[in-house]
Amino acid sequence: MGSEISRIGVLGAGQMGGGIAQVAAQRGLQVLLADVDRAAAEAGKAKIAKALGRLVEKAKLTADERTATLGRIEPVDSVAAFESVELAIEAATENIDLKKKLMVGLDGACKAGAILATNTSSISITLLAAQTKRPEQVIGMHFMNPVPVMELVEVIRGLATSDATYEATIALAAAMGKVTVTSKDCPGFIVNRVLIPMINEACFALQEGLGTAADIDLGVKKGLNHPMGPLELADLIGLDTCLAIADVLLGQLGDDKYRAANNLRMHVAAGWLGRKTGRGFYEYGSR
Ligand code: CAA
Repeated sequence: MGSEISRIGVLGAGQMGGGIAQVAAQRGLQVLLADVDRAAAEAGKAKIAKALGRLVEKAKLTADERTATLGRIEPVDSVAAFESVELAIEAATENIDLKKKLMVGLDGACKAGAILATNTSSISITLLAAQTKRPEQVIGMHFMNPVPVMELVEVIRGLATSDATYEATIALAAAMGKVTVTSKDCPGFIVNRVLIPMINEACFALQEGLGTAADIDLGVKKGLNHPMGPLELADLIGLDTCLAIADVLLGQLGDDKYRAANNLRMHVAAGWLGRKTGRGFYEYGSR
């Protein structure tokens, strides 16, 4: 196992799933890409084609490499086509009921012995694994956004995850050019345990009028040397995702220091989810 993984399935062709599929294919893996239907999977591949096109324009990739990479990504109708993969990664919306359902679907579709990885950013791997008949082969593989740029993958073992599954996952992440850290299965894992309270605190600061969004972001960028301020980063991640993670931290850790700022909740209620909807804490032109 391990570095032998050469064929993966990615469930979810959005921001994260598309990025995972892109990086895997750039590194020579065969990728089956599924979403709610074939059209959504095709749309995901079209976005990857655009992203690779930008790399060609910048001379970071040759036109032939782009063609070869795209040739390794096959949009499929559903996870029923995942029968042949050695590892499937679920990268759907951060919603516990949805993720539970998808794990059951992947368990039914993938062959015995295949690893089921989830890109969840906050939901318990042990809980998701328990939805399947193969908890030993379930693991967390948490990529960062934007996946092609960010070096890290957090790897999270559930209570039942086997050593073989863990080692194969670490090897796959390395084959994808990623650095790994291993986190315990605890809400938020390592990165979001630190990041989401910071973003949420920036939302409180904005709500309390400490400064404008631009000042809060500039303060963190220039004062702490972060590449992005917390509010613009929240817009990049998706305010719905940030809120979902904050709610998991609050619900599972039970400490009200994790309660989401009202303005974060209201932005989500308004459908102002960040870059992906054209408006979050900032407004974005069509992209
Ligand atoms: N896809 C692919 N490449 C991208 C990209 C994307 N979505 N966005 C930017 N890039 C590339 C650019 O093409 C550029 O590449 P070159 O240097 O080779 O030309 C490079 O990244 C830098 O981009 P830009 O010059 O446009 O902009 P920048 O220097 O401001 O960098 C950034 C953009 C990489 C997003 C940077 O601001 C950054 O690192 N921000 C922090 C991102 C971060 O913290 N991500 C983690 C979020 S937490 C998470 O994902 C976990 C969770 O569960 C919520």
